[in-house]
Amino acid sequence: MAPACVLVGVMGAGKTTVGELLAADLGVEFRDTDLDIEAAAGRPISDIFVQDGEAHFRALERAAVASALKSFDGVLALGGGAVLAEETRAALAGHTVVFLSVELADAVKRVGLGAGRPLLAINPRATLKHLMDQRRPLYLEVATYTVATDARPAEDVAAEIRALLKT
Ligand code: S3P
Repeated sequence: MAPACVLVGVMGAGKTTVGELLAADLGVEFRDTDLDIEAAAGRPISDIFVQDGEAHFRALERAAVASALKSFDGVLALGGGAVLAEETRAALAGHTVVFLSVELADAVKRVGLGAGRPLLAINPRATLKHLMDQRRPLYLEVATYTVATDARPAEDVAAEIRALLKT
């Protein structure tokens, strides 16, 4: 079993919004590894970061992604930092991975003040810029397709992905 499509990209790229639309279009389920982690831990991600630290969160994330890649056949969204793990990048090989790219201005608009996103608690704009610069090569490394999301309605982005999946 493998996901119909795996969505990667930085916070604010639209993985959840686009993923839910795409899953509905395809008639499959949508799943978000952030929610899997929260369900397994019984607490929000921000609590995991504060109480146990980012390294612990990343370990939970690696396990959640590995499990979902093997057991889920719908549209799967990964947390923005999942690709930092070499193990996860290797596990994505052979999967259909769509990198939702976004420029800083749109990402900042979409994440707002970064509520619920512990990494954006301080200076969201500068942090987001740093994370985007650091991670873009990793998203490109795992991507089967790259789809730009700037100034586009989520419905358009979902339709483009749907067309790509048919090719
Ligand atoms: C993170 C992104 C978040 C979540 C966590 C860390 C990151 O997911 O996994 O707060 O490192 O970029 P989203 O990209 O779904 O917001």
